[in-house]
Amino acid sequence: MVKAVEWFDGRLRILDQSRLPEEQIFVNLDNYRDVVVAIKEMRVRGAPAIGVAAAYGIALGASGIKTANKDDFLAQLNQIMQTFAGSRPTAVNLFQAINRMKKAAKGDGIAEIKKSLTNEAKRIHQEEVTATEKLSQLGAELIQDGFTVLTHCNAGALATAGYGTALGVIKAAKEQGKKLSVFATETRPLLQGARLTTWELIQEGIPVTLITDFMAGYFMKRGEIDCVIVGADRIAANGYTANKIGTYTLAILANAHGIPFYVAAPTTTVDLSLSSGYQIPIEERSPEEVTHIHGIPVAPEGVRAANPAFDITPHGYITAIITEKGIIRAPYTEGLKKIGSKFS
Ligand code: MRU
Repeated sequence: MVKAVEWFDGRLRILDQSRLPEEQIFVNLDNYRDVVVAIKEMRVRGAPAIGVAAAYGIALGASGIKTANKDDFLAQLNQIMQTFAGSRPTAVNLFQAINRMKKAAKGDGIAEIKKSLTNEAKRIHQEEVTATEKLSQLGAELIQDGFTVLTHCNAGALATAGYGTALGVIKAAKEQGKKLSVFATETRPLLQGARLTTWELIQEGIPVTLITDFMAGYFMKRGEIDCVIVGADRIAANGYTANKIGTYTLAILANAHGIPFYVAAPTTTVDLSLSSGYQIPIEERSPEEVTHIHGIPVAPEGVRAANPAFDITPHGYITAIITEKGIIRAPYTEGLKKIGSKFS
């Protein structure tokens, strides 16, 4: 399994996802500012992976603070955490991780706090690995032998620093001996489906067909899709889910064709502090990601372009939410209350 994020020799090593699939380049990051940039530029991306990278980044930041004065140290640490909080707004795993790191910043001396932060980052990482493995096992029960599954964006090992969520479910079903194939949407504008999902699935030996985003309805109508599984960046208390732009459209399409639509996510993606999904902040990225592909213009110079990175899928379109603590179905408010956390 590919390791998107790894703590190695007191440094953070990431597989630079912006260069895939052409190049597999591992980058060592030894100061927190580089980790913040890697998150903003989506060299590391996907909700759980962002949380894990930020936790290690905070540990790196702490270890680089030079002062011997504890109050001063804590003030600088707080500043570092604020910088991470400003990196990407939608994936709540980032804020979960920051919150946990805040709580772990305890100890008599500075050296002790630094150690505690590194240990907490390792724990956050390990817990994501365990959670994604568990939810994949549980979700695999929903996949029948012979199924063709449609997925959007990339919710695999690359996105989770673990086993994967949507792709984890697919991989686990294959490991159970089921024959499967996958349709991967290309996921404009940044092509996570085309570049990353197909790359992961080919490595796993799972047959995959790449389609452009708006081909999904065509294949659903032809009866070629048995279910849709996507990941999530944040799930509000009412089950409304933020995920990669285009997810909402796919959910409506699936619903119109009577196709089950599953969301797979660890409980670190559930945010009970928001009662409605429409309170989830949606990241707006540079219009250049829409007007250009790999730096090459695909639109007239100066044209106005919008680039919301995520959308919200109302719970009525979601057949079930697959988590490591169980598969949750409507009414979501009740089910999520038992497994989620509040941390804003
Ligand atoms: O902008 P990205 O590539 O970070 O968006 C990723 C997604 O939307 C994923 O589906 C989501 O984070 C779940 S990853 C397990």
